[in-house]
Amino acid sequence: MKQYNVGIIGATGMVGQRFATLLADHPWFKVKVLAASPRSAGQTYEQAAGSRWKMTVPMPEAMKDMILMDASADIEKIASMVDFCFCAVDMKKDEIKALEEAYAKAECPIVSNNSAHRFTPDVPMVVPEINPDHIEIIKAQRERLGTKRGFIAVKSNCSIQSYVPALHPLRKFGLTKVLACTYQAISGAGKNFETWPEMVDNLIPYIGGEEEKSEQEPLKVWGEIKGNEIVKAQSPQITTQCLRVPVSDGHTAAVFVSFENKPSKEEILQLWKDFKGVPQELELPSAPKQFIHYFEENDRPQAKLDRGLEGGMAVSTGRLREDTQYDYKFVCLSHNTLRGAAGGGVLLAELLAAKGYFD
Ligand SMILES: NC(=O)c1ccc[n+]([C@@H]2O[C@H](COP(=O)([O-])OP(=O)(O)OC[C@H]3O[C@@H](n4cnc5c(N)ncnc54)[C@H](OP(=O)(O)O)[C@@H]3O)[C@@H](O)[C@H]2O)c1
Repeated sequence: MKQYNVGIIGATGMVGQRFATLLADHPWFKVKVLAASPRSAGQTYEQAAGSRWKMTVPMPEAMKDMILMDASADIEKIASMVDFCFCAVDMKKDEIKALEEAYAKAECPIVSNNSAHRFTPDVPMVVPEINPDHIEIIKAQRERLGTKRGFIAVKSNCSIQSYVPALHPLRKFGLTKVLACTYQAISGAGKNFETWPEMVDNLIPYIGGEEEKSEQEPLKVWGEIKGNEIVKAQSPQITTQCLRVPVSDGHTAAVFVSFENKPSKEEILQLWKDFKGVPQELELPSAPKQFIHYFEENDRPQAKLDRGLEGGMAVSTGRLREDTQYDYKFVCLSHNTLRGAAGGGVLLAELLAAKGYFD
């Protein structure tokens, strides 16, 4: 496989740090540029991010002395140094939209973890096992932007990453209603227990904007390309409640679901077991071998025990049983900063690379 030079925009942040650790030994991608705000630009990565390093593995040696570039002022220069960039920045939505478009227009593709462009109709929002075909909309996006190489592709929010994979293979039974309550880790807010001690022995029943994302994003992921846009799916009806819980990493969801044609429990378990997507077929480097793992034990999956399954890229399910008001209920879990954030971004980039979108 060809090697690609890449940049990380927002390299000093929580998601950016995760990108740095995942890309340190990546077989296809070599980190050439680290960029952040003007506050960090000009410093080495170690100077700017060493004291706020939140990963459990150390900062990659080869990146410690790299000089951070200015994500906004150095766009042209960065675009000339890399084949594409990952982007995860904490800025206003309009600023992020403009920044990502400026990179795309400088012919630097952007694989984004930000939410700003998730509902731009010609920007694909991809879970690689579920809707890899949505990357074909990039042709229309390039026409709109007037670019040859440049484009923006985004990954979905971390909250939907546990239950949408489990629901996807069941869509053939006509999913009608989904109720999901998510129990979300504090790393999803860019925090750990040192920086957010108020979360020890606590639960906060509100995460700004999360319920809207959790209800709307699955419909785009299950949407269809029609002309120059991705049109959202009309069903199922989805309702959610999203809670912040005192867990470091790993978002859990308790899910209730109804169908037009109710499948048997055995059919559901078989579909989960057999679910393979394009990443598994192409053997992409970050793809889990088994995407959905089902636990028979009543007390699994557990965030602490099971979030790291297959490098944090697999999804775990458990407690599938019939319900009195819906057809079935079950629990699922995914690692929010691996599969749900940087790992999902790297897998999307691997898909785009394998399909020639960075050439
Ligand atoms: N599922 C997902 O995909 C997922 C999961 C979690 C988070 N996110 C998203 O990822 C993004 C980053 O989250 P995070 O938790 O990593 O945030 P964070 O830890 O606060 O890091 C923010 C990053 O943005 C940079 N930044 C801030 N202002 C900037 C500016 N004006 N120009 C350029 N860079 C700027 C910061 O650089 P300095 O250090 O120089 O200030 C830092 O690198 C957010 O949009 C968040 O919503 C996505």
